[in-house]
Amino acid sequence: MPINHPRGAIVTLDGPAGAGKSTLAKKLAQRLNLLYLESGAFYRAVALEAHRRSGELLSSEWLTTFLADFELQVSPGSQGLKLAVNGRDITAAIREPAVSEGASLVATLRPVRQWVLARLRQLAAPGRVIAEGRDMGTRVFPEAEVKIFLEADLKVRARRRWLELQAQGKTIHLDTVYHDMALRDQRDRERREDPLQVPEGAYRLDNTGYDPEQVVEICITVIEPYL
Ligand code: C5P
Repeated sequence: MPINHPRGAIVTLDGPAGAGKSTLAKKLAQRLNLLYLESGAFYRAVALEAHRRSGELLSSEWLTTFLADFELQVSPGSQGLKLAVNGRDITAAIREPAVSEGASLVATLRPVRQWVLARLRQLAAPGRVIAEGRDMGTRVFPEAEVKIFLEADLKVRARRRWLELQAQGKTIHLDTVYHDMALRDQRDRERREDPLQVPEGAYRLDNTGYDPEQVVEICITVIEPYL
């Protein structure tokens, strides 16, 4: 039942890697005029910059000190958020496959999760956002008006990600993408801090056999009554 909130609605979109969340979130943001908050980008930015400063990605202590004065500049763009550090744009650099692994590692650590959570809540304060990630509906925005959980077979997800990488001219073996994805999934599902789970009351959608446009239309039907 739609509830009138003083702020605009919050829509959460969670699910495993490669389920098609970013593509879907971008399209929904455009069609419904929402701000697209890609939480994975924050984990990627932390991993990239911590690595640049030759930090140990698995040391909670080192990362806590690093984050205390890490200033990430965030501005909304038409394709999602634009991220910069000291005026240096890192929006493209965080997409490198090597950064995916680092992001998945730093995302297991509580200080990093708390840092990301604070930034996401601040950005979402006015509402009218679609927040995409692993723990958006369970941990970051448990009060969200609409929660969607998007899934697809691991094989299908790996193949989609592989095709995406091919299109960007990145040569990588399909098996490597499959195994990296399986490992990241396992880490996301089994970690102690905010593991990937289906949020209570979420609308579950397995898009294995659907074309992306059908999924967009289904989601619009689910979200629109709450806007
Ligand atoms: O979504 P994306 O693949 O860009 O996220 C990078 C990594 O960040 C994921 O592999 C996941 O481990 C982590 N992540 C997370 N919680 C989120 C979003 C991403 O743990 N809400």
